[in-house]
Amino acid sequence: MTDQHQPVISATGLFTPEESISNEELVASFNEFVERHNARFADEIAAGEAEALAPSSVEFIEKASGIKARHVMAKEPILDPDIMSPRWEQRGNDEMSLMAEIGVAAARQAMDAAGRKAEDIDAVLCAASNMERAYPAMAIEIQQALGIDGFAFDMNVACSSATFGIQTAADYIRAGNAKSVLVVSPEITSGHLNWRDRDSHFIFGDVATAVLVEDLSIAPDDHWKILGTRLKTLYSNNIRNNFGFLNRAHPETAGEPDKLFVQEGRKVFKEVVPMVATMILEEAERLSLDPQQLRRLWLHQANAGMNRLIAQRVLGHEANDDESPTVLDTYGNTSSAGSIIAFHKHSEDLAGGDTGLICSFGAGYSAGTVFVRKA
Ligand code: COA
Repeated sequence: MTDQHQPVISATGLFTPEESISNEELVASFNEFVERHNARFADEIAAGEAEALAPSSVEFIEKASGIKARHVMAKEPILDPDIMSPRWEQRGNDEMSLMAEIGVAAARQAMDAAGRKAEDIDAVLCAASNMERAYPAMAIEIQQALGIDGFAFDMNVACSSATFGIQTAADYIRAGNAKSVLVVSPEITSGHLNWRDRDSHFIFGDVATAVLVEDLSIAPDDHWKILGTRLKTLYSNNIRNNFGFLNRAHPETAGEPDKLFVQEGRKVFKEVVPMVATMILEEAERLSLDPQQLRRLWLHQANAGMNRLIAQRVLGHEANDDESPTVLDTYGNTSSAGSIIAFHKHSEDLAGGDTGLICSFGAGYSAGTVFVRKA
């Protein structure tokens, strides 16, 4: 087999916001908001005309999700019970947008790790679950900031954006249309999270990741061969966000909670676990890989219980932290970036020839698998 048209992962990059919110801080702010709300509407609540809001709890969050803290781009306004949303100064059209800025930080790290200059890169994909604006594409802004020639575009497949981006990049390599493609996933999830919703206020965190997908013929010695990629989607309303450009057609509902992230968490848990486990096992079979021999699983980081069940079905036994590492405790759910953070932070110790799986799943539903082997 030649080295041409064989996709590999040459390097990854990670930008982590400095500020972090612990569960204790988050719950204290949420419960203050609940107290103020219930005091303000005490008469209506007493008259049975309104329902009292229930407080949140650190114990529930840790037990139900495995999340202990999350990084955010703007801690203070999120924790302010009068605001409970990120806030920063609006940037002018001549300034770099925030998503591009953190995407560039992650991308530069990946480029440095692989020893790449701008002229070595052919394309940039910005693969994320939310875009800061409709156009010009975030990807083109990132491309311009890095000084890259070629082409760039945005793609959104919610929590699976990064693995869908990796397959898209791998397909350019397989087809001979590119030799080096950056897949950048800036996830400012604090902007779509309803920090006033008890069921979900603890879920998300902000981050940016970058994956450099290249042709084996130019890859650095230290790389991961992509053995196979697989994508799947199945329509579901259980994770939904109705924010969109047609909201202005019905301004009376523009500020309602359905314009932020909403989910039926239980249903998602129940439906996605078997779907993803089956998909992984089928893809392993297609690639003639023994799933029980996988050295490590870098799974989507949404819920520790989901990952426990998926890893168990794939490996045939309860996975330990070494086999299925988590970053949920410090990063929370970072949408499409989660499995890439896990790979970035927990892959260096593997030996040449070790085989592993990067796997994402989420809204759509959508799921993606990337089986990799260390060179
Ligand atoms: N604090 C305290 N109690 C809470 C709470 C909070 N913040 N939020 C919910 N509860 C309560 C509920 O009211 C409910 O009480 P009840 O049993 O008296 O009715 C109980 O805890 C269980 O709530 P439920 O929503 O069923 O919790 P869960 O065990 O399903 O956990 C998730 C919630 C969101 C952590 C979990 O469903 C999940 O992670 N699902 C998958 C999500 C996912 O992957 N989404 C993809 C996003 S990209």
